[in-house]
This record gives sequence, structure tokens and C-alpha cells, in this order.
Amino acid sequence: MTRVALVSGGTRGIGAAIAVALKAAGYAVAANYAGNDERAKAFEAETGIPVFKWDVSSYEACVAGIAAVEAALGPIDVLVNNAGITRDAMFHKMTPGQWNEVISTNLTGLFNMTHPVWSGMRDRGFGRVINISSINGQKGQMGQANYSAAKAGDIGFTRALAQEGAAKNVTVNAICPGYIGTEMVRAVPERVMNERILPQIPVGRLGEPEEVARCVVFLASDDAGFITGSTISANGGQYFS
Ligand code: CAA
Repeated sequence: MTRVALVSGGTRGIGAAIAVALKAAGYAVAANYAGNDERAKAFEAETGIPVFKWDVSSYEACVAGIAAVEAALGPIDVLVNNAGITRDAMFHKMTPGQWNEVISTNLTGLFNMTHPVWSGMRDRGFGRVINISSINGQKGQMGQANYSAAKAGDIGFTRALAQEGAAKNVTVNAICPGYIGTEMVRAVPERVMNERILPQIPVGRLGEPEEVARCVVFLASDDAGFITGSTISANGGQYFS
């Protein structure tokens, strides 16, 4: 039977590459997005992957959105928690709003998206939850106290939930991308990118979204059934943990 996959933030950047790769691997895929209707509609037209709009920082919106996806495609077997935002600022300049927005989307969003699918996965005896964390949740990053805290929290969430799901054949893993060539990373000031970030990447380049997507396809597969609570780093050698 065709398995159903839902990718949050799945119409742009790393999420779009994940949605496309899962579709190519034979899944029925739905892509969630929060804001950019024009890009989402273009993505749907190009790929044939249906898009569903809601904000992962709202629990009620996630419950309703997931119900809509399941009504259209069937119960969700694979959840990829990819949606994420940055509100970078040095901590002395960071506002409570910048802190709260990032925590609500990048950390609380994982609770909001996973909770509505979790019981179904347990009951059916199969599930894959794949959380897109970040190198900056592993090592910390100046200018990202909010983002690093949320992404480190995603790893703790992964490890706790993996232990709960294991006996039910529901695996929970994290991927920590390094600096990938997406709009989010291209928004970093050019001088900081060229003088500070690129020299720290031994492979000598930004990653490609597809290089993260291939990790997701593997973790979603039956072949990865013995892997749970783990973190795959895809960062060009920038950081080992
Ligand atoms: N690595 C190393 N040094 C950095 C840095 C980084 N990522 N970001 C900033 N710095 C350094 C700057 O080079 C600068 O030092 P110098 O003056 O000695 O060169 C110092 O920190 C202060 O930076 P700014 O002058 O730019 O200060 P600002 O207050 O104008 O801006 C900032 C601060 C908003 C944090 C800005 O520097 C910035 O956007 N930096 C990038 C932060 C970053 O790496 N974000 C990751 C975004 S991609 C992502 O999050 C995806 C992922 O998961 C990897």
C-alpha cells in the first residue's frame, strides 16, 4: 500500500526537495506551507504534490490541517517536521517577539504537528517522524540564541519520543543540516557568509537541499527500522558531535 507522507514547510527550500524526493520514492505526499500562496501554487502545479496552508505554531490549525490531509490522502505514515524560520539578532538586540516567534514555530511546532498523528501511528504499528533540526542546535551560533535553543530542543524531543515510539515500530529521528543553499541561508549578510561561514565548511561549499532530502528518504524507509533517536549530520564537515 502506498504510504502517506506530510512535509511541513514543504513548498520551498529543503522542504520542497524532501517532498519531491519522497514522491519520487513512491509516497503519496502532502506539503504544508504557512504564507507564500504564490510559491505554493507554483510548486503544486510543477510537482503535482497537493499543498495545504496552515501555521504550525497553532495547535488548533495543525489538528484541522492534518485532518484535511488525512481526508484527502489517508492516514499519515511519515511526518517530516521541516517548517522553520529565523529571526537572527545578537542577543543584546533580540526582542521577546523574535524569541517567541522562533520558539513557537521551530520547537512548539514539532509538538503541534506530531501530537495529532502520534496515536494513529502507534495504533497502526508503523510510523516515521523525521525532525529537521540544525547544526546550530548542535554547536550554537552567535546571532541565533532563539534558533539554536529551538533546534537543540528539537533534538531532545526526538530522543524522548524515540523511546516512546520504539515498541510500536514508530521511529523518531533528527537530521541536522549545515548551511544549505536556500533562501534562508542566502539571507545571511554576504560579508558574514564569505568571511565567516564558508571558510568554516571543510567541503568548501554550501549543501544542496537534495543532500538533506536523501537522508529523509532513507530514514523513512523500512531499511531504517532499527534507527531511532538518532541524529544525522549533513554539514560538509563543519561540525562533528
Ligand atoms: N559565524 C561567524 N561569525 C558571525 C556569524 C556567523 N554565522 N554571524 C555574525 N558573525 C560575526 C560578524 O562577522 C561580526 O564580526 P566582525 O565585525 O568581527 O566581522 C559580528 O558577528 C557581528 O555581526 P554583524 O556586524 O553582522 O552584526 P549585526 O548586529 O549587524 O547582525 C546578525 C548580527 C543578525 C547575527 C548577522 O551577523 C547575521 O545575520 N549573521 C548570520 C547568523 C547566522 O549564521 N545565521 C544562520 C542563518 S541560516 C540557518 O539558520 C539555517 C541553518 O540551520 C544553518
